[in-house]
Amino acid sequence: MREATNKKVIAIAKNFELQGDLVQVNRWGNGHINDTFILIYQIGKMGRIKIILQKMNKNVFPKPVELMENIMNVTDFLYKKIEDAGGDPLRETLNVIPAKNGEPYYIDEEGEYWRAYTYITDARSFDTPESASDFYESGYLFGKFQSMLSDYPAETLYETIEKFHDTRDRFARFKKAVEEDVMGRVAEVQDEIQFVLEREADACFFMELIDKKEIPIRVTHNDTKLNNIMLDNITRKGVCVVDLDTVMPGLAAYDFGDSIRSGANTAAEDEKNLKKVSCDMKLFKAYTKGFLAGCGADLTEKEIDLLPMGAKIMTFECGMRFLTDYLQGDVYFKTSRLEHNLDRARNQFKLVSDMEDKWETMQEIVAKYK
Ligand SMILES: Nc1ncnc2c1ncn2[C@@H]1O[C@H](COP(=O)(O)OP(=O)(O)O)[C@@H](O)[C@H]1O
Ligand SMILES: [Mg+2]
Repeated sequence: MREATNKKVIAIAKNFELQGDLVQVNRWGNGHINDTFILIYQIGKMGRIKIILQKMNKNVFPKPVELMENIMNVTDFLYKKIEDAGGDPLRETLNVIPAKNGEPYYIDEEGEYWRAYTYITDARSFDTPESASDFYESGYLFGKFQSMLSDYPAETLYETIEKFHDTRDRFARFKKAVEEDVMGRVAEVQDEIQFVLEREADACFFMELIDKKEIPIRVTHNDTKLNNIMLDNITRKGVCVVDLDTVMPGLAAYDFGDSIRSGANTAAEDEKNLKKVSCDMKLFKAYTKGFLAGCGADLTEKEIDLLPMGAKIMTFECGMRFLTDYLQGDVYFKTSRLEHNLDRARNQFKLVSDMEDKWETMQEIVAKYK
């Protein structure tokens, strides 16, 4: 199986603008969406160079061409910004290596899309923060990403996943799933359904502000998990943001919020023992400090004040999506046990409640680093 995969990867690699002799192929990283490989090339007597080759996930990203256009435009823009600032654009942003036909992707005979990136040297990513400092670095990098793209015309990017953070629309879809009750599961999860219904105002909160043009639409990353940043192997400082598949127009609060949701939970996302689930204020503080050091000067006062709301609403939205999927028969998220999605929903709702309890502290922390 492994040999067959390697053979396939070797054949695919021949279609990219790569030089030298391919000497090694391995799977790479801990991503859950794309299939990622590392390839090592020997270029004569000059030494060895690594590159990243990825098979894109067509199920999650149905519009690969638009998606790659977004990535090309954003990474070209970042390259120039980093170069002008005296940084190292080959380490501080992803760089796409084109296919031989000039496109930023290659389509294989099965219709799968592949792409190649330069390898970010001497850095690695982590699934969970090993210290508050790791989480600070994550905040700083995602903040800096936001800042560097603050003068990029967000409206020119494709919305590659429609209504991704339209929580109001997701709320409507949730209510429909309750009404339809296709699995007959509604009766057993009344408390959880009630939890969502009581928070309709939260579900509509950001969309109403967008409608009233009270907060700006920006370029956002939309998958601000810790393992989508790289930390330097020696200094452990942030090097760059990776995984740009979901770069789209959005709100600063979404990126901030999803980092807190995914990284500041004291338990795993599917932990069943809800006593273990809470929002770690030490991590919240570290991330907030880093994020505002990265982009505080570029955000409006209102945007900054709304960061805690971002954390709460991203967590609420995620819990509501898990519960919706549970009601619909686990059709979207991969599950490995019967009530997996229900456990995940309960976990996120516990995190929302904990944030509601810690609301004043969260606001004080944001005010402190403003
Ligand atoms: N250009 C790169 N250089 C070095 N490592 C990378 C690069 N791109 C991705 N990675 C590593 O591979 C992992 C998975 O890649 P990612 O693009 O995040 O895929 P997924 O969408 O599956 O999460 C990342 O967490 C990172 O550790
Ligand atoms: Mg990733």
